[in-house]
Amino acid sequence: MEPTRPSRNPYQLLPSILSADPTDLASALRAAEDGGADAFHIDVMDGHFVPNITFGPAVVKAVRARTRLPLDIHLMISEPSKYLKAFAQAGGDTLAFHLEAGGDLRALAREVRALGRRPGLAVRPDTKFAEVEPLLPEFDEVVVMTVMPGFSGQKFMADVLPKMRQVREALDRAARPVDLSVDGGITPETIGAAAKAGARLFVCGNSVYGDGPSPQENLRALRATLAREAPLEVR
Ligand code: DX5
Ligand code: ZN
Repeated sequence: MEPTRPSRNPYQLLPSILSADPTDLASALRAAEDGGADAFHIDVMDGHFVPNITFGPAVVKAVRARTRLPLDIHLMISEPSKYLKAFAQAGGDTLAFHLEAGGDLRALAREVRALGRRPGLAVRPDTKFAEVEPLLPEFDEVVVMTVMPGFSGQKFMADVLPKMRQVREALDRAARPVDLSVDGGITPETIGAAAKAGARLFVCGNSVYGDGPSPQENLRALRATLAREAPLEVR
């Protein structure tokens, strides 16, 4: 397998395969690539940290074999340290674990780096900026959740936007680039507000694979909305 190709788009769309047909992930990947997806988001749930159960390393490995786009692995699991190596070996590029799962988060980030992967910090909607801020220097990506983790197709929580702005401002002051990703309820109606609050990576489950005409058309519509509502100056 050739190495993954990171996107240089200032705004990146990451289809979440949780909303795709699980019996035909290969078609779901192709359709999203065709529509210009920048990377894929894979939701790992353990039935303990969250009430739902989804994918393990075997699915990540199978997806890795079918696409050269980067894979963002969103670990909604207790004790992520037990599984970092397995998801790194399966081919995840970013391994994001939850602040609320606890443990030594800085040591976990170092462990991900030692595995040659990018550490990501995922944050539930009810977690305060003050808890996130001191951890930022350790990570390559922050995933701010705008729904409670567990299920796709939930309603976007606009009351998280002030925290998103705080994270954006802190990252703009940081010495090195850190990606800011928004996860949950992103649709053509909400993506502009998330972008204006500072998100640059957008996880899209239902709005790519659920509603709308096709993943290709849905991705184009999301991109067009971003360009219209939150144009970014290219420096
Ligand atoms: C929810 C997951 C999300 C989910 C997003 O716990 O973390 O990534 O797939 O789905 P939508 O975009 O439908 O809210
Ligand atoms: Zn997710």
